[in-house]
Formats: sequence, structure tokens, C-alpha cells
Amino acid sequence: MAATAAAAGLGNVWKFPYIVGEYGGGAFMLVYLAAIVVVGLPILSAELFLGRLGTRNVVDGLAKVAREGNHSRHWASAGWIGIVAVFVILSFYSVVGGWSLAYVHLALTGATSPGVVAPDYFTELFSDLTGDPVRTVFWHSVFMGLTAYIVGSGVRQGIERVCRFLVPILLLLLAAIAIHSAVVTNQFSSTLRFLFEPDFSKLTVDAVLVAVGHAFFSLSVGVGAMLTFGAYVPRGVSLPAAAVTIAALDTVVAILAGLAIFPVVFAHGLDPSAGPGLAFIAMPVALNAMDIPSPLSLAFFGALAIAALTSSPSLLEPIVELVRERTGWSRRSTANVLALGVWAAGLAQTLSLTGVFELDVLGLSLFDASDYLASSILLPVGGILIAFFAGWKLSAADATSMFGGHKQIAYRVWRFALRFVAPLAIALVLASGL
Ligand code: TRP
Repeated sequence: MAATAAAAGLGNVWKFPYIVGEYGGGAFMLVYLAAIVVVGLPILSAELFLGRLGTRNVVDGLAKVAREGNHSRHWASAGWIGIVAVFVILSFYSVVGGWSLAYVHLALTGATSPGVVAPDYFTELFSDLTGDPVRTVFWHSVFMGLTAYIVGSGVRQGIERVCRFLVPILLLLLAAIAIHSAVVTNQFSSTLRFLFEPDFSKLTVDAVLVAVGHAFFSLSVGVGAMLTFGAYVPRGVSLPAAAVTIAALDTVVAILAGLAIFPVVFAHGLDPSAGPGLAFIAMPVALNAMDIPSPLSLAFFGALAIAALTSSPSLLEPIVELVRERTGWSRRSTANVLALGVWAAGLAQTLSLTGVFELDVLGLSLFDASDYLASSILLPVGGILIAFFAGWKLSAADATSMFGGHKQIAYRVWRFALRFVAPLAIALVLASGL
């Protein structure tokens, strides 16, 4: 449940619906689902497994496993890619996490449930927030502060215990909203068609790259963040089974978010390719139309903020572990110093989004460029390296202990996926994207 809570976050509720919308629906969805099964799942189990073997920070853990198997210590460079990736991801994750906290505040003041309003009320509510440097910087700082606090004080285990309740609550809430959206808007069948009826003419090379990248992002794989969880899964628990559970729940959360959001989008004539504002605009529209809007929008944005706050520690933790184990600094100071660095990077993102200064990277905003660099390049590259390492370099004895015997079909499929399918698929996608 803790690993599921770390996997299910803004990526599912905020990012997934808006990229599905942006890249045209069904065909994108199909590629995404295929990527989860074909590359995400094998690599997720590999990461959990490497964590069980390495039990250390990503870089030194990989180095240890490599050394013990007499392999090159350069395998640890996969860990370094992961370290850069989590840094970049957290810097924009915190900005969006800040938006979700800001919406909790808006819900408390009643601004998200005004009753009958002009159609673009909620679009403006969102653009007012994201265009306001003072509020966005404030909430970004609060979000980063909370993340640093959680990682620094080691209360993570406490939080992880809470996840046992939070994951089901988030699921129930999204399911309720999805059902309500479907019933009230009468757009259920058009939503299903949009999400599941593939129109391959809309599938660009870029869309495939983004779909595969998002499979990594959503499962939190490719950077060694899941290694940590693997180290703590009790020996008796099967890691492949854990991986399947995590991936299944993560996918359910994402699909439910889509089912909750798109009926509203269609019913209210919103633009499915509205971009990063989609969830923040469509959800309040839906909730505002309900009989008891105010506690519901508070519950939704509360759940979103909590989902974000159970994911962000797993982005800071890998860097903290590395620096702490190498320097001997205390957990708290390490977390604070590193969080400050990430905060500064996030500050640049927020300020460029609010238009305080203009900064374009290859035609993308700093915010979109960071997301693209991390999700579409660093995660897949990290993923290839991990797949390769686990597929080719782990001893058969190590690898079979995970499946309880090398004759098992599951083991053979897994090994084949790691050796050939995942690296080839990722390499093809990456190469065509360049
Ligand atoms: N998977 C999380 C989400 O969907 C984000 C996340 C947490 C992540 N830890 C990660 C992404 C590590 C990549 C790597 O919101």
C-alpha cells in the first residue's frame, strides 16, 4: 500500500487525464496500457528485487550488487541518472503539489463551490492562481517544506501506515465522482469511446514517447525510487505479486481519474487538450454541480494533496539517502539542504509559469521542458539500464529466488521481457523521438 501510495499521485489524477486529452484519447491510452504491462511491470519488479538485494541508496546499492556479481561499477551510473531525474521531477511536482494545496484553501473559503456562475469562472480561478507569483511561490514552499519534514523526520513509516486507508479512500472518492459524472452529464458512452476507442491517426511519435514516459512516471520506475520499497518488503512476500498489485491499483486510479474528468469536459464544452489545468478546472465544475459541493471539493482536493504528499517523499528520499550515507550528515539537515535546492529549481518553474520572466527551452516552457526531460528521456534511459542490468547481469540464482525456481513460466517471461522486450521497445521509442 505504501508503494502504491507513492506510485499513485499527481501523475494519475492531474497528469494522466491531461496528456490523454492532449494526445487524442484511445490510441494513446492503448500505448500507455501496453507500456505498463510490457515495460513498466518487469522493470518495477526488477527494481523491487534490486532493492531487496542492494538495500542501500540507489547509486551505492547498484554498485554493491554489481561488485558482488563481478560486473563493472559503471552500472551505478543508472543510479546517477535516477538522482538527476528525481531532482528535476520533484522541482515541478512541488509546483503542482502547491496548486493542490492552494485548492484545498480555495475549497475551504468556498471559492470552489460558488453555485451558479459564469461558464469560465473555474478557468479563471485556475489561471488567476497560476498567474499569481505570490500565491504559487507560497504554496510551492509549503509543499516542499512538508516534503522535507516528512523525509527529514523519518515519519515516513507512520505515513506509510496511514496509506493503508488513504489508497482505498482515494479510490472510493474517485469512483464516486466518476459515477456521478457519468450519471449527471450523460456523457459516459462518449467518455468510454474517447478513452478506449483508438484512433491511430492521432498517434504521433511524440505521443508514443510521452505515453511510454508516463508509464514510467506513473509507476515511479526508472530512477531507483522503488528500490527503497523493495528493501523493506518482508522476505515472505512475493515481489512479482507486489509489482502486479502496485501496477494494477495505479492504473485503476488513473482510469478512474479519466472517467471522473472527461464526462465533465464533454458536458461543459471544456477543451480536452486544455493542458495542465484540466483536472483543476474540470473537477470543481463537476463538484460544483453536485448537491453538496463544498465538502466534496474539499475532500477531492484534500485527497489530491495527500496523494501528492505520499508521492513526493519518494522523490526526495533517494537523493537524501545518497548524500546522507556518503557525508554522514543527519537525516534532517540533509533533507532540508536538498529540499532547498529543489525548491530553488521549482521557484524558477513557478516564476516562469506566472510570466515574471520568460524562459523557453527548445520552444517549451521551463515547466514543460523539465517534465519532458525527466519523463520522456531520463526515466526511459534509466529504465533501459535497470532492465539490462537485472536481465543480463543478475545471477540466475539471485533472479530465480524471486520467482521460486528458474523453471517457472513467470520467471522466463520476466527475464525475456527484461532482456529483450523492454530495452528494445524503449530504445525504439527513444530513437524515433530524437
Ligand atoms: N508516480 C508518482 C505519480 O504518479 C510520482 C513519483 C513518485 C515518481 N516517485 C517517483 C515518478 C519516482 C518517477 C520516479 O504522481
